[in-house]
Amino acid sequence: MHSQLEPIPPVTELETAIRRRRTFAIISHPDAGKTTLTEKLLLYGGAIHLAGSVKARRAQRHATSDWMKLEQERGISVTSSVMQFEYEGYHINLLDTPGHEDFSEDTYRTLVAADSAVMLLDNRRGVEERTRQLFEVCKKRRIPIFTFVNKCDRAGEDPLKLVSDVESDLGIACHPVTWPIFRDGTFVGVYDRRQSLIHLFSRDEEHGARMAEVRVGSLENGELRELLGVEAHAQLVHDIALLDAAGHPFDHVALLAGELSPVFFGSALTNFGLEPFLREFLELAPPPSPRESSAGVVQPTDSAFTGFVFKIQANMDPKHRDRIAFVRVCSGRFEAGMQVNHVRTGKSLRLAAPQQFMARERTAISEAWPGDVIGVMDRGTLRIGDTLSANGELEFHGIPRFPPEHFARVVIKDPMRRKQLDSGLRQLTEEGAAQVFFTSGTDTTSPTPIVGAVGLLQFDVMNFRLETEYGVACRFEPFTARYPRWVLGPMEDIERVASGPGSTLLFDSKQNPLILFQDAWSLRWVQERETRLKFLENAP
Ligand code: G4P
Repeated sequence: MHSQLEPIPPVTELETAIRRRRTFAIISHPDAGKTTLTEKLLLYGGAIHLAGSVKARRAQRHATSDWMKLEQERGISVTSSVMQFEYEGYHINLLDTPGHEDFSEDTYRTLVAADSAVMLLDNRRGVEERTRQLFEVCKKRRIPIFTFVNKCDRAGEDPLKLVSDVESDLGIACHPVTWPIFRDGTFVGVYDRRQSLIHLFSRDEEHGARMAEVRVGSLENGELRELLGVEAHAQLVHDIALLDAAGHPFDHVALLAGELSPVFFGSALTNFGLEPFLREFLELAPPPSPRESSAGVVQPTDSAFTGFVFKIQANMDPKHRDRIAFVRVCSGRFEAGMQVNHVRTGKSLRLAAPQQFMARERTAISEAWPGDVIGVMDRGTLRIGDTLSANGELEFHGIPRFPPEHFARVVIKDPMRRKQLDSGLRQLTEEGAAQVFFTSGTDTTSPTPIVGAVGLLQFDVMNFRLETEYGVACRFEPFTARYPRWVLGPMEDIERVASGPGSTLLFDSKQNPLILFQDAWSLRWVQERETRLKFLENAP
């Protein structure tokens, strides 16, 4: 007998891989607990067995790698990395971003490679300056933003006020998915509103080194009610009724459009609330999404491999002078040794020895799927924003570029090392860490090159790397002028304007002229008068 039912289309390996994947980044203000949360997610994902090991390993790396010394001295995380782990059938790519605002350019580019973001808040501080900036970047991309209110193990702002502050400060609707339960002022559990379940934690003796022990039950569960006590239970029932009546209802479509943020409460330090968060997050966060390209929308399910470079990192391991380009896979299956089209140059490239990363540890891989981030060896061909495609000419858009805001002369101490300086600066430019400028359009070996960077701290990193990786000792002499504009128009007009007080004429590595203005006022003054010239914030 024939079935009347339509045959169910077979699910391909590609579709299965896409459904399992979640690629996200954590955005937060320094100190909100990003390192701690990252570590605990790895603990839950089984990628590490004892929390504390990421920090311990970080310290160990500091001891073995000169490059890391700078991070350690400054107590900041400079470079982004990617962490991959499995949890409950999901394959998770967690994109790590530097916390310090001087590296915002790097962070913004990394966010382009993410399909969703987790906004981490400190329960006393709520939305802070850096959270706000990063939120805006995510909002522009319309990616779903999940909120995790951290540090609930210690007294903080009233949860209702926190949620309403996020809504009014960031202009996004919030829907608490989990809600904190306090007994005599102590954080003892969360209520998962989507599952209608109480998660009650027991205090461990390990200070959060192992996963939290949890009892789960409904609001009506007699045993849990007894454990909570009458008062805490009544408070919870009251809170939930209030949220149901007055809060934004859950709306998955609005969530996926970046218009509604699901909110979770917990403590990364004690692991409380992490499991319900992780489960709900994985279920609600989108799998790898379609991407705009010059040839229309690319679906992750398109069979031809495509991807783009969002980060280049040289000398990750000082023992091997190598350059790794981080590629976000957008569609199709990637195979090691694959021949792809490098769209910008039109050349064919073989992607040999691809790697996956666990913090800074690498493993060789033979395949990757949409949403994954792979590291490929680069011999100086790839640039940030480049598209790789197994089939066709398409290019992905939207890797943001930022004009430098700080400029400095690089004064070399030993002029005999000039060649090393030039190759070091070229490397840093290609990584996107700096831009190099010259005072003459024809002579790109003018005595003192000028570097521009988005954050002042990048000068320290550059100086340190020039010395440790290229053996060039330099002095960086910062300019006070901070307002660059690339200028289009007749050269004699450009030179005339640049000869004005407080203005400097520079040329970028492609010989495009730009004028560095002393202050916003002189820039505006010139812009209003010089109507024959066109002033651009980024290189043409
Ligand atoms: P970051 O990467 O966002 O900058 O934050 P990080 O995880 O380094 O955490 C910043 C501080 O906040 C750390 O304390 C950390 O232990 C603490 N912290 C993180 N999550 C929680 C939490 O859920 N509850 C509480 N009470 N504290 C939390 P520290 O004293 O600066 O460093 P450490 O000595 O503990 O490493």
